[in-house]
Amino acid sequence: MKLPEHGANPHRLYEQAGQKPPSDIIDFSENVHPFGPPDFVKEQWANFFGLVASYPDPQAEPFKSQAAIYHGVEKQHIAVGNGAAEIFTWLAKRYRNKRVLLVEPAFSEYRSTLTAEKIHIIEINLKPENSWQLQLDEVEKQLAHCDAFYLCNPHNPTGRLLDVPKLTEIAELCKGKCELVIDEAFIDFVGEHASFIPMLDSHPHVIIVRSMTKMYALAGLRLGYVIATADIISELTDSAAHWNVNGLAAAAGARCFSEETYRERVIAAATSERVKMEAYLEATGCTFIPSAANFLCFQLPNPQLSEPFFQAMLKAGIVLRHTYSFKGMDGQWFRIGMKSALAMERLRKEMHQWFRDN
Ligand SMILES: Cc1ncc(COP(=O)(O)O)c(C=O)c1O
Repeated sequence: MKLPEHGANPHRLYEQAGQKPPSDIIDFSENVHPFGPPDFVKEQWANFFGLVASYPDPQAEPFKSQAAIYHGVEKQHIAVGNGAAEIFTWLAKRYRNKRVLLVEPAFSEYRSTLTAEKIHIIEINLKPENSWQLQLDEVEKQLAHCDAFYLCNPHNPTGRLLDVPKLTEIAELCKGKCELVIDEAFIDFVGEHASFIPMLDSHPHVIIVRSMTKMYALAGLRLGYVIATADIISELTDSAAHWNVNGLAAAAGARCFSEETYRERVIAAATSERVKMEAYLEATGCTFIPSAANFLCFQLPNPQLSEPFFQAMLKAGIVLRHTYSFKGMDGQWFRIGMKSALAMERLRKEMHQWFRDN
């Protein structure tokens, strides 16, 4: 059975798993939070509609200017993409015919975009015996052989966070050897204090990728950006499509930066649901990876039952993120995005029932 490589789109998963989807599905396989976009998106929808007929700004304004203000960087240090996913296609072109170091398991788009450009991939494998933490001595060993090193912080799928001093140590190891790409797609769930962006001035070989789709629930609009030196930005966008960012995304995204209360509410809810879920997993003898993000990975007390558990949850309308496509997790772990309190309660209820029956 070949299951989809990504979370979300649960109907595709049911189709590939050979199951008929029940009428009531909760999708824990995607990491977008459950509150929907900030209120202004709905309130301003009529104004946004007016943008549909016109070509958008080719520099993704007004978004780019607002991103520059939010991060305190000059506009020439930012390029805006049709989601962070598009930026990974630009990066892969940058490293064409070169060698890139990846940490596995990881977001599968790193590998697929790099493979499309025939890049030689070197990998570091995170291991359960190290609590899935990155080992710096392994990084140091591999850096001599690569032109770029991709890191994800907090890491998807583990949720593990590297703090700024640790990131600085890694950035120093990379200096003079390779570029360091840090994917901060989920950093909003921790806070700007955990971002490496303020350190970029002293680390011009570091490239930061950000996404607007997770924190602001704009996955359908597609919006992400990259921050680096002006030279890197100009090289990255050399072959980018004109008007690559749609006008709705640029307008809605620009307003998102001022949504301080919304961000606080999302972080508080995701954290409180994560803590409740961790307590439940502990009480039922499951193993979980301590996460700083709005998702969590766990393993059953008997991992050999992972497949029937996954199928039983699907039957009950509970869509978990399988891990067959995450190297080293091999279907023996599950990732769940934090959803509403009610949805999380339903997940625990279904799990409880399954534990009773098995
Ligand atoms: C770690 C990571 N980076 C980047 C992305 C892509 O984000 P975007 O929706 O902005 O393309 C994802 C999407 O799931 C992700 O998990």
